[in-house]
Amino acid sequence: MPFRLPATEEKAQYVLSQFDRIARGYDLANDCISMGMHRLWKAKAVKLLLSGQSGGHYLDICCGTGDLALSLAERLKSGQVTGLDFSGNMLEVAKNREARHRAQNKSAVQLDWVKGDALNLPFQPALFDGAIVSFGLRNVSDYQKAIDEMARVVKPGGKVINLDLGKPEGLLFHPLFCFYFSQIVPLIGQVLQNDRAAYTYLPESKRNYPDPEGISELFVRAGLLNVQHIKLASGSVALTCGTVK
Ligand SMILES: C[S@@+](CC[C@H](N)C(=O)[O-])C[C@H]1O[C@@H](n2cnc3c(N)ncnc32)[C@H](O)[C@@H]1O
Repeated sequence: MPFRLPATEEKAQYVLSQFDRIARGYDLANDCISMGMHRLWKAKAVKLLLSGQSGGHYLDICCGTGDLALSLAERLKSGQVTGLDFSGNMLEVAKNREARHRAQNKSAVQLDWVKGDALNLPFQPALFDGAIVSFGLRNVSDYQKAIDEMARVVKPGGKVINLDLGKPEGLLFHPLFCFYFSQIVPLIGQVLQNDRAAYTYLPESKRNYPDPEGISELFVRAGLLNVQHIKLASGSVALTCGTVK
């Protein structure tokens, strides 16, 4: 029987258990699965979020092992970065990475790691200069609520950004991508982490996730302005951006 993601109410618990389990090998698997490309996409997303600013307080939700938060901290000359995730094990890896960054003098700004729910952010309204999420939105049980929450905690004029899977384009590329994602990715999970199940969840997480046009629509419904999306990697990844009014 094919794997099916649990219904909404159980999804959060299921997702949490998957990420808590794979936290240690997550970074290596991420590099292998995306062939290192996720680093380029994330650099682009961070650049778009900062839009030339070198100070401010930025939020990375579903931060996982902290790729975006650490990258933001590296680029900022002043300010603060907050990374939020509900997986304690993913945050542990993020904290260890931060310690290594500090030892190499890579970041000078304050970094806070918060264990919390993206659907109920423990922050006051308009606290941040911008908020970002990468490859996290797909995992939450209510996409609109997560976007609404990001919009709520960002100051007017600040950006809300989502980087996640898109809709692969091209007659040949589309089926190739689907095959890779559904057949090869679980194999990579099996080889690297002896955990095929967690990496079978990945393609499943895409099943109900809207295409970039649909995500843009959710951004508009959240009241965000100037909503646009940029297609990357032949459409297989999309960067959606909006501005808080
Ligand atoms: C695929 S990982 C992405 C991590 C990181 N942003 C990246 O791009 O590498 C998804 C992360 O979302 C987190 N997550 C999923 N649902 C969440 C929720 N409702 N609240 C907070 N974190 C959540 C998971 O624990 C996991 O660390």
